[in-house]
Amino acid sequence: MKKTSIYDCSMLEIDKHHNEKGNISVIENDRTIPFSIERVYYLYDVPGGESRGGHAHKKLQQFVVAVSGSFDVTVDDGESRRTFTVNRPYRGVLVVPGIWRELDNFSSGSVCLVLASTEYLEDDYIRDYNSLKNIRNDFLPIYRAG
Ligand code: TYD
Repeated sequence: MKKTSIYDCSMLEIDKHHNEKGNISVIENDRTIPFSIERVYYLYDVPGGESRGGHAHKKLQQFVVAVSGSFDVTVDDGESRRTFTVNRPYRGVLVVPGIWRELDNFSSGSVCLVLASTEYLEDDYIRDYNSLKNIRNDFLPIYRAG
């Protein structure tokens, strides 16, 4: 796992083509986002007050878009946290590997589209926050030496 930080996570703008009939937004592999999409999933009917996520990934990159409604994406690298409010269908949050993420404050009827760089692999998940911190700390000597 590369030693990433929350500052590698960012809000990216998606193309927006507007005319009197409405809007189209387009996401292209390795152009709009810095990876190729292998999998698409979406969260919907999230009950009020519920939170999702609560894990990190070893290799997976994700791009998270509120195609409808709004929610917050909080990213945490074990040292710092930042929260992105996602509330436009033409913006999304890039979440890189090695970063704890939590999604909450879902508005009623919101739909969270997630574009993912790999297939679903349970082995890629880090579901314990302290384990993530330990894994990240294990990499520290390598980075210091480099
Ligand atoms: P999970 O990623 O833990 O949900 P979230 O981060 O949104 O809270 O996924 C919840 C369950 O859904 C997981 O235990 C298995 C299933 N799942 C799949 O089968 N395939 C998938 O691509 C995803 C994302 C989840």
